[in-house]
Amino acid sequence: MCFISLTTLLITSLTLSVSLAQDGAGRTRACGTFISPEEIAAAETHFQGQRLSAAKNLTNVTTTLDVYFHIIAANQTIEGGWVPDDQISAQMDVLNQDYTGTGISWNHANTSRIISSEWFARVGPGSPEEQLLKTNFRKGNASALNVYTVGFQSGNGTGLLGYATFPFDYQSQPALDGVVMLHSSVPGGSAAPYNGGRTLTHEAGHWVGLYHTFQGGCTGVGDSVDDTPAEESPAFGCPAERDTCDRQGTDPINNFMDYTDDSCMTNFTPGQAARLQAQLHTYRGVVF
Ligand SMILES: *[C@@H]1O[C@H](CO)[C@@H](O)[C@H](O)[C@H]1NC(C)=O
Ligand SMILES: *[C@@H]1O[C@H](CO)[C@@H](O)[C@H](O)[C@H]1NC(C)=O
Ligand SMILES: *[C@@H]1O[C@H](CO)[C@@H](O)[C@H](O)[C@H]1NC(C)=O
Ligand SMILES: *[C@@H]1O[C@H](CO)[C@@H](O)[C@H](O)[C@H]1NC(C)=O
Ligand SMILES: *[C@@H]1O[C@H](CO)[C@@H](O)[C@H](O)[C@H]1NC(C)=O
Ligand SMILES: *[C@@H]1O[C@H](CO)[C@@H](O)[C@H](O)[C@H]1NC(C)=O
Ligand SMILES: [Zn+2]
Repeated sequence: MCFISLTTLLITSLTLSVSLAQDGAGRTRACGTFISPEEIAAAETHFQGQRLSAAKNLTNVTTTLDVYFHIIAANQTIEGGWVPDDQISAQMDVLNQDYTGTGISWNHANTSRIISSEWFARVGPGSPEEQLLKTNFRKGNASALNVYTVGFQSGNGTGLLGYATFPFDYQSQPALDGVVMLHSSVPGGSAAPYNGGRTLTHEAGHWVGLYHTFQGGCTGVGDSVDDTPAEESPAFGCPAERDTCDRQGTDPINNFMDYTDDSCMTNFTPGQAARLQAQLHTYRGVVF
């Protein structure tokens, strides 16, 4: 089934990610959320068939969703993954600020803390460690965002900033639903230039049903959102001017679903807000 092919394809995407040019701090944005063109086609066909509505007026709706943090740490030091409560609180503030205007407001429901040097190091996409961790700790229903912070030190998650499941994955794999992200990507963490909290904004973007802005390159339906101009490839850093697809508008380098630095990311579009509301309504039972 779908899970197997996704697993196989992830290797390809990880290989591509780590071969990209590195930033000054020796880290480049690498999101392990990968979906193949065939899987997107199937997901979009299903979505069009089942689609429930978004709010009619995007500017005056707010639905509150619960967020559960699970802090996986090797030991009780910051470098060992023991993210302090004030950084979790700052992360919640960034998340709420970034989703202003989308109709979502996020409620910090609880934090659990788990000491495991094995899980801290190895919870990569598709790993047995991921399965065990999530099966034991996931909280809430389909509309609860579970966030697991880890170290991505070894195995096939090495070097990632995060990865997420999509709304349409929930029905077949409810226990695996959620976001896994690098502990030091939270505001005040050490993963500069990716320590402004935008890794969670981006991964939560997948969790609410958004694709990368560079999905599909310059041809086809791209990210299935009309007001994000097509982009040939991810943008890194914060390029002053970038236009990789002919006559389709300048690249959406400030969008949360691109790969630029945290300080360069500023917005979701109204089209993304409408899509995420319809995805949440259709697959997570969220009414706007
Ligand atoms: C949408 O809601 C806002 C805020 O309540 C209101 O100002 C605006 O007129 C509404 N727009 C439409 C088209 O109903
Ligand atoms: C949003 O605004 C529209 C138009 O003013 C109104 O009909 C609708 O009830 C409002 N929705 C909410 C959730 O307040
Ligand atoms: C805590 O864990 C980190 C990451 O594995 C390690 O680098 C560090 O040496 C550990 N610190 C202590 C005090 O055990
Ligand atoms: C919050 O999480 C802690 C640690 O897992 C747990 O002991 C507590 O019961 C939880 N509280 C709520 C309200 O869920
Ligand atoms: C990741 O590694 C685990 C072994 O730890 C393996 O079972 C899994 O299939 C791998 N997943 C991917 C996407 O490579
Ligand atoms: C999911 O849980 C939340 C919080 O407990 C609740 O408000 C919501 O109605 C639940 N959603 C569904 C579809 O049951
Ligand atoms: Zn991503």
